[in-house]
Amino acid sequence: SPTHELVVVANRLPVDSHTLPDGATEWVTSPGGLVTAMESVMRTVDSGAWVGWAGAPGEPPAPFEADGMSLYPVRLDQQDVERYYEGFSNATLWPLYHDVIVDPEFHRTWWDAYLGANRRFAEAAAPVTAPGGTVWVHDYQLQLVPLMIREKRTDVRIGFFNHIPFPSVELFSQLPKRNSILRGLLGADLLGFQRESDSLNFVAAVRKLLGYHVEGMTISVPGLGAAPVREVEVRTFPISIDSAAVSALAEDPQIRERAVQLRHDLGDPEKVVLGVDRLDYTKGIRHRLKAWGELLDDGLIDPHDTVMIQVATPSRERVDAYKQLRDEVELTVGRINGEHAPLGRPAVSYQHHSFDRRDMTALYMAADVVLVTALRDGMNLVAKEYVASRPDLRGVLVLSEFAGAADELRAAVLVNPHDIDELKSAILRALAMPAEEQEEAMRSLRHQVMENDVQNWAHDFLERLEQTGRLEGSSA
Ligand code: G6P
Repeated sequence: SPTHELVVVANRLPVDSHTLPDGATEWVTSPGGLVTAMESVMRTVDSGAWVGWAGAPGEPPAPFEADGMSLYPVRLDQQDVERYYEGFSNATLWPLYHDVIVDPEFHRTWWDAYLGANRRFAEAAAPVTAPGGTVWVHDYQLQLVPLMIREKRTDVRIGFFNHIPFPSVELFSQLPKRNSILRGLLGADLLGFQRESDSLNFVAAVRKLLGYHVEGMTISVPGLGAAPVREVEVRTFPISIDSAAVSALAEDPQIRERAVQLRHDLGDPEKVVLGVDRLDYTKGIRHRLKAWGELLDDGLIDPHDTVMIQVATPSRERVDAYKQLRDEVELTVGRINGEHAPLGRPAVSYQHHSFDRRDMTALYMAADVVLVTALRDGMNLVAKEYVASRPDLRGVLVLSEFAGAADELRAAVLVNPHDIDELKSAILRALAMPAEEQEEAMRSLRHQVMENDVQNWAHDFLERLEQTGRLEGSSA
């Protein structure tokens, strides 16, 4: 089979396969920030490959070409989906790495499935990587893959990027099999994290739990073969979006027209406030609705002038904490609308589905205020997409300090979303912000987002990997 200079390995392919009622297959863009970012990177790479799951259990589709890249679907059976994906990845690691907003569950059968699934991704990636090529492994679902690939291919460079936070050593220490996870990750030459605090947390965990020698952000790892030690570098690379492409969409006359129409459909309110999230408990949707409901109760927001749109993309729907969240959010939205919505118009327009790029941009352009109130978030690309969608320099971003984006987007209205009173006053401040002040903040935010796009991010990572990865000879 053909081999590739750059092979991306992620739990999901950039597209999910859906079987239509007539048995035909339809491909739709996968959810989440990882795909948003990496999809645009891979479009600029010649003959790259992407190894991942097509989103449905059972027999995977054969490898295929899309957008100039080769896609290699990995098989996950129903039991893998339950134990590796819904279980260890999304009911153990996800809540633990997001500071235990909900309690992580630990089950030994889930670990076995995680190990087995990681092995399958490594086995799919190793043979399609060119001699001396590069494998770039992504995110918490695949933390064992770097070492598994190194054990098969000593001639390739291996990079790993974690899209979500890395927790404090106290929290990480709760994880059964924690040392295997650390060793798995340390199979890479370069480990990338979103925020400086994530990189420092990882290094602290390695020092404390494995006792390896650390100098600055370089870790000395016992070598596998001839070399007695291998150096692994840890670095911070805040991820971004294809800023120019998003900004260009915002200049598209059809999309501008769509934004105007959207406001009209809502009854031409004075102000539109928007939230866009996967329906995930890390996103702070409950806190946001709490604040919004109280502002309406207090009479500080008039639902005749002001409408909130909450886009909540369906996510991980078979995992308990997500089912509970959906029930709670839908109950709260129903209550708010029942009490406050004028006849013929919602107080909160709740959208439980995803929107395509163009409609999403129209929504951003129609929004006077965007609320990103995550309780914990690796980066949060919605914040960056909103900024890139406003070449008109209008609009206000309210941004949680607990999102990685807060390190860069200092000109946003920064909030602690746990403090409902603070959140309420931040929303009121955003709604009342004069145009000149909006422009000044948005100009500074745009400077940040337009200069630091996802192409730069990928370039920085891969260039660093090239300098770090030491070749130890060719594979057997
Ligand atoms: C986040 C994670 C990704 C994940 C995405 C969507 O962005 O960092 O790894 O793919 O959420 O979640 P899902 O479980 O649907 O893949």
